[in-house]
Amino acid sequence: MSKPVGKFLLLSAVLALSLPANAVQDQSIPDDDLGLSKTSVYDVPDPIIVNYGGGDPGTNKRAEKSYHTAPPMITHSIVDMVPIRQDFNLCKDCHVQPDLLKEKITVGMPIPAPVSHYTNVKKGELYMGRWNCTQCHAPQANVNVLVQSTFKKAK
Ligand code: HEC
Ligand code: HEC
Repeated sequence: MSKPVGKFLLLSAVLALSLPANAVQDQSIPDDDLGLSKTSVYDVPDPIIVNYGGGDPGTNKRAEKSYHTAPPMITHSIVDMVPIRQDFNLCKDCHVQPDLLKEKITVGMPIPAPVSHYTNVKKGELYMGRWNCTQCHAPQANVNVLVQSTFKKAK
């Protein structure tokens, strides 16, 4: 046996003695600590009922974006506006107004849906892939945020 191998075997033996047998098991993560929820991953907790806030359209301040290219949050109440259906879309009535794209939007005016939302901006033809507005735009609720966004707008 050459010298280095002998040293290695000795070191292994010392390590094996100093490690308790259950050290590997101790490293497992308990169910309750997996994920952000404070319950076991095997629980099916009832979702908390949240009240979506916001006053009537035209009475709210615009929300900060969570990140660049994020669909902006809906600032106002959407009571009686959802669910959006094939034959029912109130969002469109206020927001699909391409004429407003050229105008300065002041407080109280509906922010026009951007150019990306139309197949033909001049004719105001909404791209149907954008029909279900709430698929991307979410109303806001006053809840504890599990992970706070640290996004800051680029200067
Ligand atoms: C009666 C008109 C009206 C209706 C209906 C309406 N909105 Fe609005 N919306 C507004 C106005 C006015 C604002 C400006 C901010 C405010 O006062 O809340 C706004 C703001 C927003 C914003 C914020 C945009 C930004 O850049 O900050 C989003 C997103 C939005 N609305 C989406 C929707 C969706 C989705 C629906 C349908 C569920 C909807 N709105 C229905 C008038 C309306
Ligand atoms: C597929 C996701 C998606 C859908 C569906 C969608 N939007 Fe958007 N929306 C976005 C994103 C992303 C932005 C950010 C800017 C962009 O796309 O140009 C945006 C921006 C907006 C803005 C802000 C414009 C500004 O100048 O700040 C309004 C208002 C808006 N959308 C309204 C609507 C309405 C009303 C509908 C339904 C008719 C709708 N959106 C459907 C993703 C979506």
